[in-house]
Amino acid sequence: MTPPKRIFRSAEWFGAADKTGFIHRSWMKNQGIPDHAFDGRPIIGICNTWSELTPCNAHFRKVAEHVKRGVYEAGGFPVEFPVFSNGESNLRPTAMLTRNLASMDVEEAIRGNPIDAVVLLTGCDKTTPALLMGAASCDVPAIVVTGGPMLNGKHEGRNIGSGTTVWQLHEALKAGEIELHQFLAAEGGQSRSAGSCNTMGTASTMACMAEALGTSLPHNAAIPAVDARRYVLAHMSGRRIVEMAHEGLTLSRILTRAAFENAIRTNAAIGGSTNAVIHLRAIAGRIGVPLELDDWTRIGRGTPTLVDLQPSGRFLMEEFYYAGGLPAVLRRLGENGLLPHPDALTVNGKTLWENVRQAPQYDDEVIRPLDKPLIADGGICVLRGNLAPRGAVLKPSAASPELLRHRGRAVVFENLEHYKERIVDETLDIDASCVMVLKNCGPKGYPGMAEVGNMGLPPKLLRQGVKDMVRISDARMSGTAYGTVVLHVAPEAAAGGPLAAVRDGDCIELDCAQGRLHLDVSDAELAQRLHALRSADMGGRGGYQRLYVDHVLQADEGCDLDFLVGCRGAAVPRESH
Ligand code: FES
Ligand code: MG
Repeated sequence: MTPPKRIFRSAEWFGAADKTGFIHRSWMKNQGIPDHAFDGRPIIGICNTWSELTPCNAHFRKVAEHVKRGVYEAGGFPVEFPVFSNGESNLRPTAMLTRNLASMDVEEAIRGNPIDAVVLLTGCDKTTPALLMGAASCDVPAIVVTGGPMLNGKHEGRNIGSGTTVWQLHEALKAGEIELHQFLAAEGGQSRSAGSCNTMGTASTMACMAEALGTSLPHNAAIPAVDARRYVLAHMSGRRIVEMAHEGLTLSRILTRAAFENAIRTNAAIGGSTNAVIHLRAIAGRIGVPLELDDWTRIGRGTPTLVDLQPSGRFLMEEFYYAGGLPAVLRRLGENGLLPHPDALTVNGKTLWENVRQAPQYDDEVIRPLDKPLIADGGICVLRGNLAPRGAVLKPSAASPELLRHRGRAVVFENLEHYKERIVDETLDIDASCVMVLKNCGPKGYPGMAEVGNMGLPPKLLRQGVKDMVRISDARMSGTAYGTVVLHVAPEAAAGGPLAAVRDGDCIELDCAQGRLHLDVSDAELAQRLHALRSADMGGRGGYQRLYVDHVLQADEGCDLDFLVGCRGAAVPRESH
């Protein structure tokens, strides 16, 4: 007996022989759509973050075309729609400010339209969490198709990596090791093909997270943007989403607590970005899965970093794909009992382990064996103490081992402008043992929690050959950046966190092994200083920035807007005419 045919939600728009059905079908037909498109087959949304202002996603019209081929082939009807596109390289004051805006756009577009399942086209950093957050709040069947990383950068006969190159060459420029024309000459070679950053920055990290969570087909994270196999994957994802619509395989069956635990472990193994801490928390919040900062300690710490990619290591995403990509990493983890939940379900209907247990591994230099890890104890270090009562994070694999336990004198910058003005002052009283403290760059303070936490070192110390110093802030840092950088201090200074009370000359103690971040000032003194602070001036903002500053949650809660947390489903009780 054949199972009864599924009635899709799009039938509420297109299924009725009445005035409402007329309206919905007739206007769609102005695109040349035949009657049989409305015969009850699944309508597949292709949520596209294409934009020429998001260069990492500028090739997405072509990716969408290949998704459509797969959808048609499987008997679905594809409809492509645009959503707000967060471009990391251009958007000011930071693309993080509009991650939540994009997620609202995605959620309302999916729920309000005749869409039965959705393909999420993601690439540049914030586009992956934004689309997963929005789709999770609707809980429809969804599959992530990433645009893929750029080919290796090439400059002066060697490989260079996105972002990491900028930080390295800029330090060299400030130290007087290279000249301006040499610095600028790297621009073209760094970004020489379509795609997102080719380092293990936030885009690559979030693509790996999407794959480890089970929300994409295997190999989605690493196939280069311009490799024909990227388009095959888009095609196959189009085919698969039609099946998922028929199966009713919604996101809540994929995005379980087990999936997030797999993702946290994977982040440690790939040496992933600290930004994943915030984004995974926000996605989990949308689907109702409890996740907290200490899960990163419990599940992530002790995991070896196997993937030797910049900024922690040497290689780039192109080599990562050729070495076997994420399936090879997951296999190594699983074979050593390090995959917390091998039986977690993924979008292709198989378990994570079924997908990877025979994954080939081609290069032990790029994807290290467990007994030769890049970092023995990777993962994200969660810190707490009187300076960060609700936590802060540090990425040990990108830090200097000798600074992971450090005590030093604070040199304080009240905000980014103060930092820029002060850091070039040759008379600034600072040496390599000092701790640089930057305030007011958190979610409310910047606003949007910019990637400025990896503040550059004072030029006078760079000229002395100093390569790293302890830095602390309520900001984030680019996943392509490196250094002994304490980030995401919560509560942030602008929300009255203790960071606001730090003064020049205070002693600060960092101890990663103990998870401790301590300001050497008595409780009474700290309370008195905080009491004396005037509440931060939010600058009389209007528009979206006002909504954001009034409602954004702190870093430990994922920086979502408080009223966006949770799953609201896909039901729409009212029609439009
Ligand atoms: Fe888009 Fe890095 S700037 S991924
Ligand atoms: Mg970034």
